[in-house]
This record gives sequence, C-alpha cells and structure tokens, in this order.
Amino acid sequence: KQSQSPSALQSSLLTMSNTDGEEDRLLPIRLPDEPRTDIPEGLVYPPEYEGHFEHLLLTKDEIIERTRVMAMSIHNDYRGKRPVLVCVLKGANTFYQHLLEALQDLKQGYTTEFLRASSYSGVSSTGTVKVGGGIKYEHLKSKHVLLVEDIVDTGTTLLHLIPILQKDVEPMSLEVCTLLEKRLDEPPKVDAKYKGFSIPNFFIVGYGLDYNELYRDVSDIWTISQKGIDFDPSSLPN
Ligand code: IMP
Ligand code: MG
Repeated sequence: KQSQSPSALQSSLLTMSNTDGEEDRLLPIRLPDEPRTDIPEGLVYPPEYEGHFEHLLLTKDEIIERTRVMAMSIHNDYRGKRPVLVCVLKGANTFYQHLLEALQDLKQGYTTEFLRASSYSGVSSTGTVKVGGGIKYEHLKSKHVLLVEDIVDTGTTLLHLIPILQKDVEPMSLEVCTLLEKRLDEPPKVDAKYKGFSIPNFFIVGYGLDYNELYRDVSDIWTISQKGIDFDPSSLPN
C-alpha cells in the first residue's frame, strides 16, 4: 500500500476527474491507513480537549477544498434544477454549511430541509435508526432530493432512511452526498453518489462529528484518543 504524501493529497483535492464515467459518481479521495505525519501549524480546539485526540485526519481547509469539488459535481448534475438539500443532523451540519456556500458561489439554486437521524450510542452502531427533526415530507414530494451526510460507516442509517423517504415522500429523485465513507471489511450497504474521502476504520471526531455530543466544536477532524474515550463530560463547566 502506498501512503499518500501531503502534496498528492493537495493535488487530488483540486481535481474532479475521479468519476467512473458511466454514471458520473464522484469517487472519494482515499486517505491512507497509516496516520499522517504532517500536522499543519495553527490548528486550535477548546483547551478542555487537550490530549483527547490521537491523529489528525483532515483539516477544515482541506475539507472545504474538497467540498468545492463536490459542489461542482453536484452543480454539473443539477444545473437548471432546484434540488432540496436535506441535512442529516446533527453531524452533517458543518459540512452542509460549507457545501451550501460552495453551491452559492456556483449560482446553483436549492432549497434546504433538515432531518434528524440517529443510529449511534457511544462508538458502536446500535443498528436501529430514529427519524425526526420535524421535517415536512410535502416539501420533498416530487422534488430532486439530495441527502447530505457527514459519514457513511456501516450504512445502516441510510439503509433505513432511504426506503422510508422513497415510500413516504415519493421524490422525483433521491441521491446521497457524503463527506466521508469508512473503509470496512464489507462494502457499504448504501453507495453514495457523491463522496468526499474514503477513510480508514477509526472513530473520528470534529467538524460536526461527535462522541457522546462532544467535539462538534472542533474545526478539524481527528481520531479520538483513549483519554478522549474515557473522558467524563460531567466534569465540564456549563
Ligand atoms: P452508519 O449508520 O453506521 O452508516 O453510521 C452513520 C452515522 O453514525 C453517521 O451519520 C454519524 O453520525 C455516526 N458515525 C459513524 N461513524 C462515526 C465516527 O467515526 N465518528 C462520529 N460519528 C460517527
Ligand atoms: Mg450523520
């Protein structure tokens, strides 16, 4: 396995040629299994998280760069249409905001909706999905719906969510855009059309992603350390 140098990552962030042609899916940039050694200077996070991170996965700037390419791919497919971009809360919120900005710069029209889907408790998937957030299905009916996700892990969330929406909403089309996809032994149960990065199977936090509701307030994406996993949040100030 060849590990990707920072410059290779930089240059692949800027290309959008990695679609498989036929269906114009945006294939993810593959981040190597080995932790990166280049840690850019100036990364910040609240002091109460000191020692809670193991390795840096992606900086906010790298994510935004990639998000612009994802927006171009989406714009290519939805030019002249007005898709409903559905943010799958809460984790996708940060990515969602940057994606909207990038689409605005491309003059791509859209409407926004938010839904709440949760399949996680702690670091392992519970295998059940709760849909909430007060989303109005009539706002999606007969529309081009694009679900925006932070991460596809086992795919359980989307595997449950997509049939519910197909059945109850009857959208004109339904696609998935995810910032991250975890590389597991099995292929993901749901194949997103637009993917930002393929990442190794670590539990990660930051950029909206949480561990028991912590670390959403961190700009960059890190793997969590044992200290982070063992941390008692009740020791934090209100
Ligand atoms: P899935 O249903 O297994 O695909 O998991 C999807 C959801 O679980 C994501 O939308 C995240 O909210 C959460 N999740 C999965 N992996 C991670 C992780 O490494 N860190 C934080 N949240 C995660
Ligand atoms: Mg999510």
